[in-house]
Amino acid sequence: MIIAPSLLAADYGQFAKDTVRASKSGAEWLHLDIMDGHFVPNISFGPHVVKTIRPLTKMFFDVHLMCSKPEILLEPFAQAGADQIIVHVELDDRVTQLLWKIRSLGKKVGLSLNPGTSISLVRPYLDKIDHLLVMTVYPGFGGQDFIYETLPKIQQAAEWRRERNLDFSIGVDGGVNFKTVADCAHAGANVFVSGTALFGQRNMKAAVKKMRQVAHDNDPALADLRV
Ligand code: DX5
Ligand code: ZN
Repeated sequence: MIIAPSLLAADYGQFAKDTVRASKSGAEWLHLDIMDGHFVPNISFGPHVVKTIRPLTKMFFDVHLMCSKPEILLEPFAQAGADQIIVHVELDDRVTQLLWKIRSLGKKVGLSLNPGTSISLVRPYLDKIDHLLVMTVYPGFGGQDFIYETLPKIQQAAEWRRERNLDFSIGVDGGVNFKTVADCAHAGANVFVSGTALFGQRNMKAAVKKMRQVAHDNDPALADLRV
């Protein structure tokens, strides 16, 4: 179970301080939402910010590109210190090339899909990725309500993974809080991106611990061991 606080919910005047806060919380990944004002109706931050916070933590940098032209951003983010780069399946016939390019840069390969996109679209890529990120809100803004209709996608992805004996991780992104994390874990997710629910807490360490515990308690792999 991996908890990934999203820097989108941090104080924009205090990125460095909030990065250290996330790092000390015990969360393994730092989720970095990159928005271009075109693929999504918002703009966040670029490679320079990632490069600036990179020396502050050993956390795994999970870079989520919500961008129409990720081709021009892969190298800058790789150089800035990304450990994983996620692109969106909605980019259609450019996806294969993008995944290959991320791999060739020596980074972990992630693929994401929006709530309105069918899970069948990611199927051809499952043997080429390390991580599948299921969007549980329409991307662009933090603090939105979790869309429950996305849960069957997690189950389907977990089923395909089992059938084909693959080992990509399954993440969820958007509206993940102490309640919805249970449903996501139960459906088969094991990476939990959470912005508002974690950064909004005074004690982030306790919040991460609690979220991890709820996820763990709902892990379907442990269901057989429970009475
Ligand atoms: C949505 C972003 C999410 C967002 C999640 O466009 O991709 O990562 O930061 O934030 P919360 O947890 O506030 O929904
Ligand atoms: Zn994200």
